[in-house]
Amino acid sequence: MLDLIQTLKNQALHQISACHTNDELEEVRVRYFGKKGEITKLLKKLPIINKSERKIAGQNLNEIKDLLLKEIERKKADIEKEIYQNARFDPTVPGIEPQIGNTHLITCAIDEIYEVFAKLGFSRARYPEVEYDWFAFESLNMGKGHPARDEWETFFVDAPDDKKYGEIVLTPHTSSGQVREMLRRNSTPPIRMINIAKCYRRQISIRHLVMFHQFEGLFIDKGISITHLKGTLDYFAKNFFGEKRKTRLRPFHFRFTEPSFEVDISCGVCNGTGIDKENSKCKLCKSGWLELGGAGMVHPVVLKNGGIDPNKYTGFAFGWGVERTFMMKAGLNIPDIRILYSSDLNYLKQF
Ligand code: DAH
Repeated sequence: MLDLIQTLKNQALHQISACHTNDELEEVRVRYFGKKGEITKLLKKLPIINKSERKIAGQNLNEIKDLLLKEIERKKADIEKEIYQNARFDPTVPGIEPQIGNTHLITCAIDEIYEVFAKLGFSRARYPEVEYDWFAFESLNMGKGHPARDEWETFFVDAPDDKKYGEIVLTPHTSSGQVREMLRRNSTPPIRMINIAKCYRRQISIRHLVMFHQFEGLFIDKGISITHLKGTLDYFAKNFFGEKRKTRLRPFHFRFTEPSFEVDISCGVCNGTGIDKENSKCKLCKSGWLELGGAGMVHPVVLKNGGIDPNKYTGFAFGWGVERTFMMKAGLNIPDIRILYSSDLNYLKQF
């Protein structure tokens, strides 16, 4: 029996040290200490062997049992340490690719719009999103209670009025930056501003968002005329939309410009013909032209409010929606404009 115990001990020690995984180690443990394990079997035999051998065999067996169980624990710790180290440092394990974000398409559109105007010497300005009535309306020739204000579906902020500048509103359009820019420049032309900012209106539908972006151009100097406006708009159309695109001005009415226009751009799908490749009405524009937004020659009252003498200086201004302009560039007819801000990555990743 004693010989057998010794042989088992050596055999078990050898097998334990050869293990590489916890599963292999568990197999060895069961082989010796399981219900039918080698050591368990010998322990069960102890009562039936002769007395002289029993004591010493019992002692030996218990010592070996302790030794082997300790050895198994030690090996287990080694294996776990190795697993841990490998898990941290194994350079062969394929990495988990992190999700890389990208700039939102409206931010890209804003950057692109700015780049085009920067080449013409316009500099970017930003004005408060929470604005005084005076800058948003009154200074723009829309006195208190003027019906034209209705079109701007304004959010009013529940805050005390300012004695000079009146109520506080969420900027409904970037035109609120016009007089601010004139004052910031100490009412001293030339002024070439491109104000790109968030605007807010009480409107939500598939074509309107409560929060959207506009870009507003303003150019004031001596002798500025509609020709300069048209030239600037055409330059923008060609550089932003493509070489073949043209703009046209349609008479319109705004309180802060005189004369005022709506600006249209020739459709990129039908090249301004209104007829598509299948010889039917173009589905995007239906007429050859797409409406971009408003423009005009700055009203003398607005110049005066900015401290500029309208007898010496003239200027033009225009203001369009970024989201709308972006959709036109991409030739997109997005069925619901709200999707642009829905955080639906599957949609946004397409651009
Ligand atoms: N602010 C106008 C709007 O939100 C757009 C606009 C029209 C801006 C004519 C202008 C302009 O600068 O000249 O509808």
